[in-house]
Amino acid sequence: IREPLVLGIETSCDETGVGVVRGTTLLSNVIASSMEEHARYGGVVPEVAARAHLEALAPTLRRALDEAGVTLDDLDAIAVTSGPGLAGALMVGVGAAKALAVSLDTPLYAVNHLVGHVGADILTDGTSGADAAIEYPTVALLVSGGHTSLLLVRDLVDDVELLGETIDDAAGEAFDKVARLLGLPYPGGPEIDRAAVGGDPTAIRFPRGLSLPKDMIKHRYDFSFSGLKTAVARWVERERDEGREIPLADVAASFREAVADVLLTKAVAACTDLGVPRLLLGGGVVANARVRELAAERCAAAGIRLRIPPLSLCTDNGAMIAALGAQLVMAGRSPSGLGFGADSTLPV
Ligand code: KG4
Ligand code: ZN
Repeated sequence: IREPLVLGIETSCDETGVGVVRGTTLLSNVIASSMEEHARYGGVVPEVAARAHLEALAPTLRRALDEAGVTLDDLDAIAVTSGPGLAGALMVGVGAAKALAVSLDTPLYAVNHLVGHVGADILTDGTSGADAAIEYPTVALLVSGGHTSLLLVRDLVDDVELLGETIDDAAGEAFDKVARLLGLPYPGGPEIDRAAVGGDPTAIRFPRGLSLPKDMIKHRYDFSFSGLKTAVARWVERERDEGREIPLADVAASFREAVADVLLTKAVAACTDLGVPRLLLGGGVVANARVRELAAERCAAAGIRLRIPPLSLCTDNGAMIAALGAQLVMAGRSPSGLGFGADSTLPV
């Protein structure tokens, strides 16, 4: 099938995403988020996320089909995130996708969430005056509340290599935790971004944790954010103990600077070391103003072509899963069958 009509289902974290694509063309991308339900806990609660998916999935599917102007019978294939992510959350999407595939007798593809983030870029190809999608090989930096991963993508369908990942907190998680200790609400990323406006990013030199102990890392470009988070906590604690007021804008700007610096230093180093002059960003942290700015600066300086899909395709969504599914169909891959499960630690 040259331009397969593919449905994508994404339930790996707190976003229930269903999208429809035809080949590389985006037809719909509907998202229901349980973010607000997690706010009072200061982070995503797995059980709450799973229950929310169960409630949201059918109506989200209905809307995605309607917005795309298609019916279930039109589908050539279904793609679903089988991992990595929260096990219970993944199971809701996988179960629903299997039920649909069996009842419709439609091929089903289990796909990797992280590779899906890379697939999102395909959908921006040529649309609304955008540049053509990224070429391969490319380095991809995926940063959200659940993951911080650096990938080398030689071929989206069958050649993706993990260059590095976080050994402790994800970058978005660090934003959420630091926001919390500064008394800002969840999700913390946008709050810190706002609080940082007008702050001095050089006011406090927080540690970057760029060189990690050899025995702690598995990959050349692994990340660590727990040391940075602890450093901010200690700094704030000391200031409070000594009766000083916390300069919120300066702390937020200095912390944000440290995260952006670490992310872009490693991503650009990977591009340079591997001779791959292309970098693709994905994940919710890509919304960060300083991350975007520094990415543009560092990539321009290093001669790296930077791609940042629109935010609706950067955060978790079903369209990116559908896009990857369509690539698998077009590459002639066999469907996954029904024997797969949800794998919370699925490797790329
Ligand atoms: O991709 P996403 O919507 O969902 C998952 O984590 O799966 O990412 C959400 C994460 C949260 O940790 C949130 O604090 C962070 O992305 N985030 C930001 C910004 N907007 C969202 N982090 C830094 N700056 C932002 N402007
Ligand atoms: Zn994600």
